[in-house]
Amino acid sequence: MKTHTLNVDLGERSYPIVIGSGLLGGGYDLSSHISSQSCFVVSNDTVAPLYLDKLTECLPGLDTPSISLPDGEAFKTVATAQSILDELVCCRAGRDITVVALGGGVVGDIAGFAAACYMRGVSFVQVPTTLLAQVDSSVGGKTGVNHPGGKNLVGAFHQPEIVLIDTDTLTTLSDRELRAGLAEVIKYGASIDSGFLDWLEENMEALLARDADKLAYAIQRCCEIKARVVAEDEKEAGVRALLNFGHTFGHAIENSVGYGEWLHGEAVAVGMVMAAELSGISATDQCRLKSLISAAGLPVSPPLTRAGQLQDAMQLDKKILAGKLRFVLLRELGEAYVTDDYDATTLATVLAGAET
Ligand code: NAD
Ligand code: GLY
Repeated sequence: MKTHTLNVDLGERSYPIVIGSGLLGGGYDLSSHISSQSCFVVSNDTVAPLYLDKLTECLPGLDTPSISLPDGEAFKTVATAQSILDELVCCRAGRDITVVALGGGVVGDIAGFAAACYMRGVSFVQVPTTLLAQVDSSVGGKTGVNHPGGKNLVGAFHQPEIVLIDTDTLTTLSDRELRAGLAEVIKYGASIDSGFLDWLEENMEALLARDADKLAYAIQRCCEIKARVVAEDEKEAGVRALLNFGHTFGHAIENSVGYGEWLHGEAVAVGMVMAAELSGISATDQCRLKSLISAAGLPVSPPLTRAGQLQDAMQLDKKILAGKLRFVLLRELGEAYVTDDYDATTLATVLAGAET
C-alpha cells in the first residue's frame, strides 16, 4: 500500500502525519525526528507486547527506555502521568529527550501531557494504534488526563513532532474498539463533511469487515480534515470546537457511568444522536444519522442514570463560557456550529431519555 504524508501547518511547529502499512518493524525510520541519543517510549500492558519491539526497529541506534502503563481509561489520571514523570527523572532524562507514545488515545493523551510538563516541555512523537487515535486523538496536540469531576479537565496543548500511523496495527484491535473509532470517523462527516458522510453510508459494511484500503482512506480523510481545522484554530478559539460534536453529552455519559464503563467512542455515538435531537434538524436527517451509527454497531440510546446526573456532569464542560453551557449543534448534516442559544425544553426532553 502507498504511504500518504499529510502536513499539519503550524509554522515552526508544523509536523507530518505519515499513514501507511508496514511502517512499524523498520518500515519507517523515525530517528530523523528524534534530536537526542535516546527517547522514552510510553505504552501500556496490552500494546507493548504487540508492538514495542517493532517500534524499536524504527529507532535504529537510539536508546529506548520505556514504561508500560496499566491499560484503561480508569488509569488516565494525574497519578499515572506522575509515574511517567518519576521514570523520566529516574532515567535522568534531559531536555533533549523525546517521549514516544505507542498506543491508543489514552496512552497518547497521558504521554503527551507528561511530555508537555517535563522540564516545561520536551519533544513528543505519536504512534497511534487504535482507529480512534489514528483518526483523531494523535493529531492536534490536545493532551491531558481526567479528573473525577470531569473528562480531560487537566491538560495542555502540546504538538507532536510527527504522527506515524501504521494501519496494520488495526488487525489486532478488538471489534468493539474498532466500532468505537468509527464513532469519531462518523463525527467528521456529520459535523463538517457531508460528502464523507455519504461515503461512510456506502462503505460502513466494508469498514466493519476491515477492508484495508477503505480503512486507510477513512483515516486519511479524517486526518486531512483534522489537519486543516487544527491549522486554522490550534487552541480551539473557534472552528476546532466543531470537532467536539456529540462530546458534551458523550463526556457527561463517560463521567456519570464511571470512566471505562462506556468506551469514549460509544459515548460520543450516543452524544451525536442527542445533539442531533437538540439541534432540531429534520426527523429524516436525525434518522439518517442514527441509522449510520447503528450500522456501525454503536449504541444510539444513553445509559439510564439518576435524574439530573448527566446535567450535573455537563456543568464542568470546557465549552462553558460566562457560566453558560454551549453545544455543538447541526444546521444540517455536515454543517455544525457552536451555540449557547438552544431550546431548554428540548434539552430537558433529550436528557429525560437517560433518566431512570
Ligand atoms: P484506548 O487508548 O483505551 O485504547 C482502547 C483499547 O485498545 C485499550 O485496551 C488498548 O490497550 C487497546 N489497544 C490499543 N491499540 C491496540 C492494538 N493495535 N491492538 C490491540 N489492542 C489495542 O482508547 P482509544 O479509543 O484509543 O482512546 C480513547 C481516549 O482518547 C479517551 O480518553 C479520549 O478522551 C481520548 N481522545 C483524545 C482526543 C484528543 O484530541 N487528544 C480526541 C479523541 C479522544
Ligand atoms: N477531538 C477534538 C479535537 O481534537 O479538537
